[in-house]
Amino acid sequence: MVAYPTALLAAVPDIESLPEMKTPLTVQRSHRAKKGAKDRVTLDRAFSKAGMFSRTEAIKKIHSGAVKVNGKVVRDPDHWVSVLHDSIQCNGRALREQRRICLMLYKPTGVVTSHGDPGQRKTVYDLLTGFDPWVFPVGRLDLDTSGLLIMTNDTTLGERMANPLAKVPKTYQLKVNFHPTPEQLSQLARGIELAPGETTLPAKVRVLRRNDKHSFLELVLVEGRNRQVRRMIEALGGRVMKLVRTRIGNLPLGELPIGHYRVLSRREVAELLKQPDAANADLYASAIPTEDR
Ligand code: URA
Repeated sequence: MVAYPTALLAAVPDIESLPEMKTPLTVQRSHRAKKGAKDRVTLDRAFSKAGMFSRTEAIKKIHSGAVKVNGKVVRDPDHWVSVLHDSIQCNGRALREQRRICLMLYKPTGVVTSHGDPGQRKTVYDLLTGFDPWVFPVGRLDLDTSGLLIMTNDTTLGERMANPLAKVPKTYQLKVNFHPTPEQLSQLARGIELAPGETTLPAKVRVLRRNDKHSFLELVLVEGRNRQVRRMIEALGGRVMKLVRTRIGNLPLGELPIGHYRVLSRREVAELLKQPDAANADLYASAIPTEDR
């Protein structure tokens, strides 16, 4: 039996009670306007900035001839436009700023965090029934991870939250197939080498409870490497049996039923933007260069 420091043991609800079932777009071309022309962007970017379509969708529409700039069809997504001075239309619908919207979704396992899956699996968009504005996921959760996912059409919010320098804390509850020793817990907290030259930033870790075979942990990470939680546990020789993201910054999953979404209030969005949160400031101090604190 492993002796845990009592500070690591806490009586909180465990993830056994949380149900499991029921990219950002990467475009390589530069879309930034030249210096001194803040309202100028490429045509595809004008649509995504306005929250009207994703850039991929905008590119398709532009190629199909559905888009007119100042009355003329433009089929080149790289065509520079001024969002202030040019008249831009798609199928006769004028480009104008859409209402900024941000929602939270309780992603179940078995659902892909992307738009359209070549394997025909269910995607997070299939869960947004009755929701019209185009939104994109801020970060992603693996197919076999459930929990809190934020989606928005606000590219500024999305970029700020996904920026590694923002160090937005993400809280995970996990069930592992072993009982970590105090030394292993402190390895997770200090940073653990996932591959040569790839060490994780300091994290918060605590043991929620354990039974004969499994331990239930809570991990708070300020970065989002690929399959990070699973790889951290694998680096200790263990395996994650269940993984749920329960909180992003100050926003908890709360009572949202699995597979459902809800639109965030202005206050919740404002809270999300206050990152990193004061409660975790000490955790990041060692990881943030002085000028970024
Ligand atoms: N860490 C993982 O291993 N998977 C996720 O989906 C999120 C964090």
